[in-house]
Amino acid sequence: MRISITDRCNLRCKYCMPDGIRCVPAGQVLSLEEICQVAACGAELGIRHIRITGGEPLVRANCCHLIKELKQLPGIEKVTITTNGMLLGEYLEPLLAAGIDGINISLDSRDRELFRQITGTDGADQVMESIRQAAASPVPVKVNAVSLDLGEENLGQMTELAKLYPVDVRFIEMMPIGYGKHFPVIDHRRLLEQLGAMYPDMKEDQRIHGSGPAVYYRIPGFQGSIGLISAIHGKFCDKCNRIRLTSQGQLKTCLCYEDGEDLRAILRGGLEGEAQKRKLGQAMEQAVIQKARAHCFDTPDGITEQRSMSMIGG
Ligand code: 5AD
Ligand code: SF4
Repeated sequence: MRISITDRCNLRCKYCMPDGIRCVPAGQVLSLEEICQVAACGAELGIRHIRITGGEPLVRANCCHLIKELKQLPGIEKVTITTNGMLLGEYLEPLLAAGIDGINISLDSRDRELFRQITGTDGADQVMESIRQAAASPVPVKVNAVSLDLGEENLGQMTELAKLYPVDVRFIEMMPIGYGKHFPVIDHRRLLEQLGAMYPDMKEDQRIHGSGPAVYYRIPGFQGSIGLISAIHGKFCDKCNRIRLTSQGQLKTCLCYEDGEDLRAILRGGLEGEAQKRKLGQAMEQAVIQKARAHCFDTPDGITEQRSMSMIGG
């Protein structure tokens, strides 16, 4: 279960949350206590892994405290986080102390100027420093880069992060969700050809990496692997076991569709204790039963999700 704990962010990536986008009023966002209630219910139903997302999760007060609480829930084996890395210098130690099991850092370019153009902020060096520090910590670190057409030099610089540090670098095909719709999809079959030409010794990695949809490759001499997450040209819906809790408490089961169960209405509906828990559990099961067979990104008329990625959690 991916849990978006805030729609707010300290960056303004053009494809996610461009300048001027409005944030959800604070009262509509689940409290940390409400998030814990949903997570506890999920754990009872069989959820084992929680990923904390945003917006940017580290801008939410007491994020590390929440992680500590989630880690203590019976049944929860792993709590991981996806962050843009801007605040990781400050929060790496508290995250490790809270028991975080893995850190994904989003970075599309190491180049200061390209980073500024994408995110609206001069932060490339800060995120690079976060990657360096996180890579030296005991938990697995992955770098996520959305595939944008930034040229071969950028592709090489991003790939070589896996040489420089023991981190997996994953390229993610742009999905036509929110502002992402206005960006071209870089076909990962082409990206793979490009990587193959740049690194002729690159080989597919058959080992299992975590639980996700990425296909991994190894390059001799590199500490980490290279992953391709290709939701469009390498549809993996048949293997998807994700559910997503939005910051406003909707349980979504596919990025492509707006439908889901309104868990906030149950949390704030006046029921208490076991009665509330039962109703939450039923709604969560209902959402899973209704999980779509597949996304329809290839037939855009069928896409019903209109919200920005920062509101859904990516
Ligand atoms: N398609 C694919 N990935 C996206 N992200 C944000 N918007 C999109 C999109 N439309 C990525 C961010 C971050 C992760 C949480 O989601 O870059 O790596
Ligand atoms: Fe913030 Fe991540 Fe969206 Fe960029 S992609 S605006 S860092 S939430």
